[in-house]
Amino acid sequence: MALLEVRSVSKRFGGVAALRQVSVLLEKDEIVGLIGPNGAGKTSFFNSLTGLLSIDSGEIRFADSSLRLDGLSPDKILEAGVSRTFQNLRVFKNMTVCENVAIGFHARTKAGLLDAFLRTSRHRDEEQVVFGGSAALLEFIGLGGRGNEIAGSLPYGSQKRLEIARALASKPRLLLLDEPVAGMNPREKEEISALIRKIRDKGVAVFIIEHDMRVVMPLCDKVIVMDEGEKIAEGKPDQIQKNPRVIQAYLGELD
Ligand SMILES: Nc1ncnc2c1ncn2[C@@H]1O[C@H](COP(=O)(O)OP(=O)(O)O)[C@@H](O)[C@H]1O
Ligand SMILES: [Mg+2]
Repeated sequence: MALLEVRSVSKRFGGVAALRQVSVLLEKDEIVGLIGPNGAGKTSFFNSLTGLLSIDSGEIRFADSSLRLDGLSPDKILEAGVSRTFQNLRVFKNMTVCENVAIGFHARTKAGLLDAFLRTSRHRDEEQVVFGGSAALLEFIGLGGRGNEIAGSLPYGSQKRLEIARALASKPRLLLLDEPVAGMNPREKEEISALIRKIRDKGVAVFIIEHDMRVVMPLCDKVIVMDEGEKIAEGKPDQIQKNPRVIQAYLGELD
């Protein structure tokens, strides 16, 4: 039984086959890497998992097949326990760190998004129930004590963390990270890797798109390689590094 089971998903954009019969299994306690050259279809794959793209064919099942995700709206998928961050930073720069996280809380709870801005006592109660409150979540993510700062004033790396915090606030069972360490220096990359392990240790499976092999290989239990919309390889990091097709499609590009 798998947490996520994707069967033969295809998606075309006009003449471009962004996804060609992609199948993926992801287990509960796994960190899975998704790699491949630009245009391989990685973001499209995440978009199809989160309901931002409607697929042409195939099936996406969640939670031991108990729920079919394809056909559901993005908010229903979030409610089901799949949340994500985006390749490009999506932080509300004029809002505080806490307010950004609150949006993640309220995406999941009864009190709606609009109410998140109004912050009544009911919402504070719900926050307590969901994750022990924003403060605990910010502490966990490495932004402890910075809740009242304006998000746009944080360094880039901290804003990326904030996005992860917001995604965690909805209490996902599966977290999708689209290039979470892009633009970071080696030390920041190491810190985010450590954070991702901590997230997994909290019982959240992580599916991560990332180019940097020095990040992917030590972090991931399993790596999936895509090229031109197709899954061309899957395996443990050391197997993937030795796979001739992968080297040709992707790793060779690094030199
Ligand atoms: N909304 C869209 N409309 C048309 N073409 C798209 C759209 N999104 C992605 N594509 C195309 O699908 C292919 C896969 O893109 P993408 O999923 O962004 O790849 P990756 O994330 O691996 O770089 C590319 O050829 C891209 O131009
Ligand atoms: Mg992408």
